[in-house]
Amino acid sequence: LLNDFTKELGPINKTADLLNLKAKYIGKQGPLADVMKNLKDATPEEKRTIGAKANELKQQIEALFSQKMQEIELADINASLEKDKIDISLTDSMLEKGLQAAGYHPVTIIQQEIEDIFISMGFEVLDGPHIEDDYHNFEALNIPATHPARDMQDTFWFADKKHLLRTHTSTIQVRGMKERKPPFRFVGPGKVFRCERTDASHEMVFHQLEGMMVGENVSVGNLIYFMKTLLTEIFKKEVEVRLRPGFFPFVEPGFELDIKCLICGGKGCSVCKQVGWVELLPCGMVHPNVLKAGGIDPEKYNGFAFGLGLDRLVMMRYGIDDIRHLHGADLRFNSQFKSF
Ligand code: PHE
Repeated sequence: LLNDFTKELGPINKTADLLNLKAKYIGKQGPLADVMKNLKDATPEEKRTIGAKANELKQQIEALFSQKMQEIELADINASLEKDKIDISLTDSMLEKGLQAAGYHPVTIIQQEIEDIFISMGFEVLDGPHIEDDYHNFEALNIPATHPARDMQDTFWFADKKHLLRTHTSTIQVRGMKERKPPFRFVGPGKVFRCERTDASHEMVFHQLEGMMVGENVSVGNLIYFMKTLLTEIFKKEVEVRLRPGFFPFVEPGFELDIKCLICGGKGCSVCKQVGWVELLPCGMVHPNVLKAGGIDPEKYNGFAFGLGLDRLVMMRYGIDDIRHLHGADLRFNSQFKSF
């Protein structure tokens, strides 16, 4: 019986066939089952020897069966891997035919660099939706419906008058606070949208990187330290910063952080419009109302927040004089930034 089984087993390469074969030999209608059935009429002596022999045979068949099963499964996996194989190598002959190696968009390059800097300082990186509601974009950030600050951000509203395209990444603060308990620190990069007339320094779609740190006794000193470290890392040299008062309803006090112009060293040039300083980073201490809306006790905790504009950084880094290049989808522009 074992020989017959082994002979039939040999050519099998499908799971279904294998299962049938197993049923044929050791299933309920199989020869082994017959032997067991007939055993009831046998003498005790016969029962012992024949029963033991039958069991041994069954185990041998089962072992061969499992082994074969594994072989078939492995072969199936290998076959499907082989079938789905994609050759991702870019060969010289493909380049000659005009195919180009892909690269990152300059905004993505800067964004990833900044994320890495913040990760190394213990920050999480969060994401948030582009389509938001009034609550997350305004209300929870201490900008009630009648507040004049809403005019600062020309909003793309949806027809339902309830939803909008987020005008800043500060929306990420709101969910970030609700989902964690202090102390915490995170950044949230992404696209933002404003209904503005475009020109060399304004686009309807641009990029910000929001940052927030909340805990006990967070100070303006902490804020300046993190911002200075960030800018030094980005520009690969020590930068001088200064704070001016700035108004945003969600921070109190609020600041505009400027850096000493890296082009002229502060003497005055066209990039800094002759003032020697470039406005780069709006920031401030989180307003108590914003903490409350985020489920945080403002008596116990405080924090800082900032909203870094990524497009301007990219322009300063690469010497790009018109923001519209960034979304111009011109491959001649994009292909200059292949940096891996
Ligand atoms: N959300 C503000 C803007 O887009 C920037 C900002 C963020 C200011 C965080 C202060 C703190 O204009």
